[in-house]
Amino acid sequence: MHTFIGDIARYDGKKATIKGWLYNKRSSGKVHFLLVRDGTGILQAVISKDETDHTIFETADKITQESSLIVTGIVRKDARAPGGYEIVAKKVEILQMAQDYPITPKEHSIEFLLPQRHLWIRSRKQNAILRIRHEIIKACRDFFDNRGFINADTPILTPASVEGTTTLFPVEYYGDTVYLSQSGQLYNEATAAALGKVYCFGPTFRAEKSKTRRHLTEFWMLEPEVAYLDLDGVIDLAEDMTVYMVQRVLKMRKEELKVLERDITKLKKIKKPFPRITYKEAVDIIRKKEKNFKYGDDFGAPHETIISESFNKPLFVHHYPAAVKAFYMKRDPNDESLSLSVDMIGPEGIGELIGGGQREDDYEILLKRIKERNLPEDAYKWYLDLRKFGTCPHAGFGLGIERTIAWICGVKHIRETISFPRMLERIYP
Ligand code: 4AD
Ligand code: MG
Repeated sequence: MHTFIGDIARYDGKKATIKGWLYNKRSSGKVHFLLVRDGTGILQAVISKDETDHTIFETADKITQESSLIVTGIVRKDARAPGGYEIVAKKVEILQMAQDYPITPKEHSIEFLLPQRHLWIRSRKQNAILRIRHEIIKACRDFFDNRGFINADTPILTPASVEGTTTLFPVEYYGDTVYLSQSGQLYNEATAAALGKVYCFGPTFRAEKSKTRRHLTEFWMLEPEVAYLDLDGVIDLAEDMTVYMVQRVLKMRKEELKVLERDITKLKKIKKPFPRITYKEAVDIIRKKEKNFKYGDDFGAPHETIISESFNKPLFVHHYPAAVKAFYMKRDPNDESLSLSVDMIGPEGIGELIGGGQREDDYEILLKRIKERNLPEDAYKWYLDLRKFGTCPHAGFGLGIERTIAWICGVKHIRETISFPRMLERIYP
């Protein structure tokens, strides 16, 4: 097999064959430096006029950006080379000469790059983001797996809404209308009663009408759900998971964070405990800056920014008014107007990363809530069953993967955190 650039250090002083694409090229007349990328890294191939066959030197002279090529040579350490190693090429084979690759090393506008997303993901920064995405997902899975959770995924085609009926995507299903899942939560509640502690991880869909840097119409959510867990317990769980995930990226993805020029001193501060404040306390913070904010209103992005500004780590806001939260939220036994809900708001203006809480576990009350919100009772019959057959307190949350990646990578807009973003005005490529 050929050598992946990511493993190149093991080949110091030895012969290796690398297969990839031309990322960039520098020439000094006598020497060509080809920057070859293969997805696992970038390696400089050195081809000097005096030391290599002149046909190879000429091939290297002609090769264009993103042409596919195979280089065989001797690997050597060189502090000046990007990555610390280079390969002294003995043989260069071009598989295909790319013509007029549209994304040149200069800066491009986002309007230009988005329709080129299938090619844009080859660039260094986008590559680093997708690698960190992988690490974050793996870290979350490991976190729950290590604690004995069972991954029980939930359906994507569903008969009912979870998070309100205004953002549903309908799908025609053999003459019926079903919807793309907004969240796996309701099914998670069933699997939690079967398996104790579970999580699901999958794509979720919301027909968002707003065009913001925090909203996609298709995004991925990691959702744990635990039987016999209460609001405090679910906040502890979210806190532990977040710390674990950030530590893991700091440890495993140093290079990628460097490529992104991420200020890691900020990430190093992500340690327990995170502040926990009530909705009411959050309103007091907002009112210091925005006098007219009404108690009872939901927070928008600017309010979340105001709340998070006074802290350099994520914080939890709990006990939101029941009226601004979903039908399934359990009410505070001491104040019916409040829900046992929690959001985790990230630092650096990223906004809400997690939404969750304790679920209504009483049959009659839940049925009342479903009716109050004019939800189709029939579609929730099975969900109500969970309250009829061994109901118990239970809680869970959903972590938005793309927003989490945007925060950890320090990128402003979540469209860069998924290979192919789906937004109000974008379904291509
Ligand atoms: O707060 P949300 O709506 O909570 C739920 O869906 C619960 N049913 C989850 C649960 O308790 N199991 O969404 C959870 C998270 C948000 O905090 C946010 O990070 C992300 O999902 N999110 C979005 N991310 C990108 N684009 C969108 N349109 C998003 N909507 C929510
Ligand atoms: Mg929410």
